[in-house]
Amino acid sequence: MGCHKDIGESYMHNTHYRTSGSITAGGLDSFFHLASLSYLYQDSGRVTAASRNGSYFQDLAYPEGGSGLPGQRQSVSAPIEFAIGSGDKAQSYGYWKPAGQPKQLPLTWVSESRTWTNSPGFPTRKAFYDRVILSRCLECHASYVSKTDVPGGPEMVMEKMEPSSIIYGIDCERCHGPSIDHVRYHTEYPAEKQPRYIRSMAALSRQQKNDLCASCHSGNDQSMLRPIFGFRPGDTLANYILPSFGGTGKEADVHGKQMQLLMSSKCYQQSQMTCQSCHGSHDNQGKSKELFVSKCMDCHKGSSHAQELKSDATACINCHMPQQASKAIGFNDPMGNKSILYMLRTHRIAVYPSDSNTLQPGVPDALHKEITRQK
Ligand code: HEC
Ligand code: HEC
Ligand code: HEC
Ligand code: HEC
Ligand code: HEC
Ligand code: HEC
Repeated sequence: MGCHKDIGESYMHNTHYRTSGSITAGGLDSFFHLASLSYLYQDSGRVTAASRNGSYFQDLAYPEGGSGLPGQRQSVSAPIEFAIGSGDKAQSYGYWKPAGQPKQLPLTWVSESRTWTNSPGFPTRKAFYDRVILSRCLECHASYVSKTDVPGGPEMVMEKMEPSSIIYGIDCERCHGPSIDHVRYHTEYPAEKQPRYIRSMAALSRQQKNDLCASCHSGNDQSMLRPIFGFRPGDTLANYILPSFGGTGKEADVHGKQMQLLMSSKCYQQSQMTCQSCHGSHDNQGKSKELFVSKCMDCHKGSSHAQELKSDATACINCHMPQQASKAIGFNDPMGNKSILYMLRTHRIAVYPSDSNTLQPGVPDALHKEITRQK
């Protein structure tokens, strides 16, 4: 950051940087404001997010309704020690107990509905405080943790992590590769403007750029050959992940599979499109739809219908990249109904039928008519 101040400052606001971290005093206060603070796990009891003396906890009250944790008929409390997910959409939590084996807490914060609800992967009715967080989670949501495999019972291995080794958030080196020599050299020779000892991102091939982003954006259901903590720009992703043969991009879930979805689009197939065609790497471009429309127009100036609609900032993406609910992840409301959807933009850019939110209010009448006529 001493040399790349602007990039660094902008990156602080990027969700990559904020995608995990330890909880600081007061850090979660905004999630305790006007929110529904508890979720009833019907078989176990009510779990409540609590704030006491600047620290946060998840408390299971026994016996209200439930029978407590399996084999444990008493109230339970665990501290909220670290977060996974920026909270832009959702945030899950964990605590280090025992020290090298972090556990996931039963409540997750969902921003859109401003509620605490059952964490993904937890059954609707049963709470646990001993669900292990594996380093795989951190491979996509953090920068590093050192771990060893230790015996965990008959014919089982368990991970033991070194808590002091963890680097939360996705740091510069996750994408740029190890950079210490680069920093040393340029600190010693500040007049030297030719970058040394660092991989040039501009010189990466299209495949190499895609592989870098896909190392975390092609899903969590493949078998791993090696941890992707070791992935460097220019590496081949196939050397880390076994390819999955089931399903094409068309069926890929919107959660985490941006790469497969994009690859199934004509835009991608008939151009040199990469993630960078629309996304900056360090900025917090977030929800600026105008910016995205201008990216569409980089390639679609020739389309008269695109020309007609380009002034409506939401237009292109609402029709051609509609929000879809993830089938892999969804949340329950306080009544236990699966009614809180995890909505993401599909990256399969295509023409969708109007019932998948294609016809949006605010679209010029002429186009409404034209589309209806064609149908
Ligand atoms: C999510 C991956 C990612 C992270 C994290 C990241 N960068 Fe980048 N960076 C890129 C990509 C990709 C490029 C190529 C230009 C582009 O398309 O945005 C780039 C370009 C650059 C460049 C221009 C030189 C070049 O090779 O093109 C600098 C300087 C830079 N990044 C510095 C940083 C710093 C400093 C940080 C941490 C504060 C950082 N980056 C974090 C992906 C990343
Ligand atoms: C080390 C894993 C990792 C790598 C590498 C990575 N991402 Fe991400 N990315 C994530 C995670 C995790 C999130 C979710 C962040 C959160 O918690 O909100 C994310 C979120 C995003 C978002 C949505 C948030 C926003 O700022 O709008 C975009 C866009 C994105 N990544 C693009 C990219 C691109 C482009 C690249 C390649 C240059 C890339 N990512 C490389 C893990 C990664
Ligand atoms: C293969 C990479 C990968 C792994 C492994 C992974 N995630 Fe994610 N996660 C992502 C990406 C990419 C996103 C960004 C949005 C999306 O596609 O859902 C994300 C989004 C999230 C979010 C929402 C963040 C936000 O506010 O937008 C949470 C919470 C989350 N992940 C928790 C977890 C937990 C807990 C684990 C481990 C049990 C885990 N993830 C494992 C890649 C991964
Ligand atoms: C890097 C260039 C590029 C960018 C950026 C781009 N496209 Fe495309 N797109 C193409 C090409 C090439 C085709 C195939 C030829 C055609 O139909 O024009 C295409 C096709 C399409 C199609 C027709 C798809 C089909 O299945 O028939 C739609 C719709 C579309 N693009 C919408 C968009 C939208 C919306 C954006 C912005 C979010 C966008 N494109 C960004 C290059 C691009
Ligand atoms: C109201 C929904 C809607 C909006 C908004 C919309 N489109 Fe489309 N678009 C369609 C439909 C439906 C088709 C297929 C019928 C047709 O070809 O006109 C289509 C076709 C396309 C095609 C392929 C045919 C062609 O004209 O080249 C491209 C490319 C495209 N759209 C890009 C865009 C871009 C870029 C924007 C934003 C500036 C946009 N669209 C806004 C509904 C929409
Ligand atoms: C044609 C333009 C385009 C390309 C190329 C593109 N994206 Fe996106 N991406 C978008 C738009 C538009 C959004 C939605 C922004 C919003 O709604 O605020 C988005 C959102 C996201 C999000 C946030 C999740 C969500 O649904 O809000 C992630 C993560 C992401 N993109 C990752 C990627 C990755 C990784 C690549 C490359 C494999 C990529 N994108 C390529 C246009 C694009």
